[in-house]
Amino acid sequence: MAPQKLAAGNWKMNGTLASLAEIDRLIADHPAPGCDVLICPPATLIHAMAARAGTALAVGGQDCHAKASGAHTGDIAAAELKDAGASHVILGHSERRTDHHETDAEVLAKSQAAHEAGLIAVICVGETEAQRDAGQTLDVIAAQLAGSVPEGARAANTVIAYEPVWAIGTGRTPTNDQIAEVHARMRALLTARFADGADMALLYGGSVKPGNAAEIFAIPHVNGALVGGASLKAADFGPIVAALSAA
Ligand code: PGA
Repeated sequence: MAPQKLAAGNWKMNGTLASLAEIDRLIADHPAPGCDVLICPPATLIHAMAARAGTALAVGGQDCHAKASGAHTGDIAAAELKDAGASHVILGHSERRTDHHETDAEVLAKSQAAHEAGLIAVICVGETEAQRDAGQTLDVIAAQLAGSVPEGARAANTVIAYEPVWAIGTGRTPTNDQIAEVHARMRALLTARFADGADMALLYGGSVKPGNAAEIFAIPHVNGALVGGASLKAADFGPIVAALSAA
């Protein structure tokens, strides 16, 4: 089994009910894409988006709590995301690692909670610019994978997203060789650790746009993308879905 191709959109803290018109347009423009398509909107929109999306499009959360329920004001349990219609959840995004000081251990616990609730965990890793400049990229990625991905991870319940922190929302992307180097290392580490690590989908994320998607999807072991800014509009995300479908 080859890894499943996935075009994933991360709307971050953007979107209101009016934004669901973009979902209608995306589905109308791409009724039968040749890849899986996922949108992770703000939690307030998950239920309405899942109802609109039907089976044509998967809907996900952007974070969950490690506990199944309880006194955690403002947090969301994985089972609650699932109940609202989510099938996936992004975990360990660099904005959460930075803004909320999330550690690898916390991302691992959240990933376990996601798996227990029957969600697919989209676990994010990536180096800072200082770490890349210091030549530490592959070590940082290896440590984050070791620390954030739980033992129960399988191709069916886990997607890994490589997102260099310095490429997120900046318009800067690594060279194709830099992406290839990290993805090849991730594939080797996951294959060594998990029986079906060769089948786990590996996404690249960070300033993916219609204009660079096709060349990124041609890089070995890139099975899709996690897209921020360019996922907000169907006119931008649609061509990315089309590029992955054709890859
Ligand atoms: P970007 O964000 O596509 O806007 O760079 C990617 C992400 O943070 O997932």
